[in-house]
Amino acid sequence: MLIPVILCGGAGSRLWPVSREMHPKPFIRLENGQSLLQNAWLRGASFADVTDILTVTNHELYFKVESEYREVAGKAHKDLVNSFILEPFGRNTAPAVAAAAMQIAAAHGEDALMLVLAADHLIADQAAFAEAVSTAMQLARQGKLVTFGITPEAPETGFGYIEASGNTVLRFVEKPTFEKAQEYVASGSYLWNSGMFCFSAGTLLKEMALHCPEIVETTRVCLQQASRAENKGAAKIELSADDFSQVPDDSIDYAVMEKSKNVAVVQCSIGWSDIGSWRALGDLISPDDEGNRIEGNVMIHDVSNTHIQSHERMTGVVGVDNLIIVDTPDALLVVDRSRAQDVKHLYAQLKSQG
Ligand code: GDD
Ligand code: MG
Repeated sequence: MLIPVILCGGAGSRLWPVSREMHPKPFIRLENGQSLLQNAWLRGASFADVTDILTVTNHELYFKVESEYREVAGKAHKDLVNSFILEPFGRNTAPAVAAAAMQIAAAHGEDALMLVLAADHLIADQAAFAEAVSTAMQLARQGKLVTFGITPEAPETGFGYIEASGNTVLRFVEKPTFEKAQEYVASGSYLWNSGMFCFSAGTLLKEMALHCPEIVETTRVCLQQASRAENKGAAKIELSADDFSQVPDDSIDYAVMEKSKNVAVVQCSIGWSDIGSWRALGDLISPDDEGNRIEGNVMIHDVSNTHIQSHERMTGVVGVDNLIIVDTPDALLVVDRSRAQDVKHLYAQLKSQG
């Protein structure tokens, strides 16, 4: 049994103003009209032995997530049971995955395999991914925490790096410094961690008990105290703010993957991208002859290498090079393409202003 676990949270601060608290990155729609979240759900639904999908998301996003699933459910060509764990606020991925593992162990047994999927990735080659997942399932059945490794393209500091020898992970380093990332990429023996994982619920809980016992204990209390509703096998579990505030904030990468001696990797070439910044999002759109990527209601003259998105108002741009311009009804972003990662600083300012 394989249960996809979709993690849908995180504000995606580098994609402001389109990605915000109430409209995070997973809801961004692609050119095919589907959101990143819908893509993740369809990806999970496509595996032969999948009958249940578990989503961990924020309480406030529940109706939005659920309606996005309903929109594409017909495309799965089978009836799936959609369960939810709803968080009052984000505590990063370690508690989210721990709660999912506890729920799955209780409902399906400790040997049930989980496939943890981020809600904001793109995978172009689904067939290659399916092959990678089937290798990962074999390793997971042997008691491994399995990661999916991607050949790195640049010294990105926003990713985890995996030093690998075959399927064996020698070292896992989450979000290294730029200098370290350069070293790792140049060495040729490191892979990017794709942020997707496969393991049995029991293995994950055992490893967490070893490396982050406080997260396990506090999350267990949350689940015991949670309010639960069941409908045709689908569970809806609401964690209370009081209990969840006791849970330490940490990512699965720092809390478990960097520390565990039991991590394996499946190296894969699946057309993966984490659309973390406007630059990465722009790269998905084919450029015109001048290198411009234009979406929506836009007029340009003498413009090059510029990504402009303006779906509501008409935006006119003259005589610029190498910019990203994103217009939304209540916010306008203008940023140099080489500084796309720094949009997160605006988001932080906005948050501190309340
Ligand atoms: N439910 C829930 N609650 N989901 C969350 C939370 C939370 O508090 N925080 C993040 N998520 C979801 C995000 O929506 C995303 O789908 C996924 O978990 C990963 O979180 P990110 O915040 O995007 O992680 P990251 O990009 O910094 O790093 C991870 O992904 C990289 C690849 O994209 C790590 O696994 C890195 O090692 C990896 O390279
Ligand atoms: Mg991410």
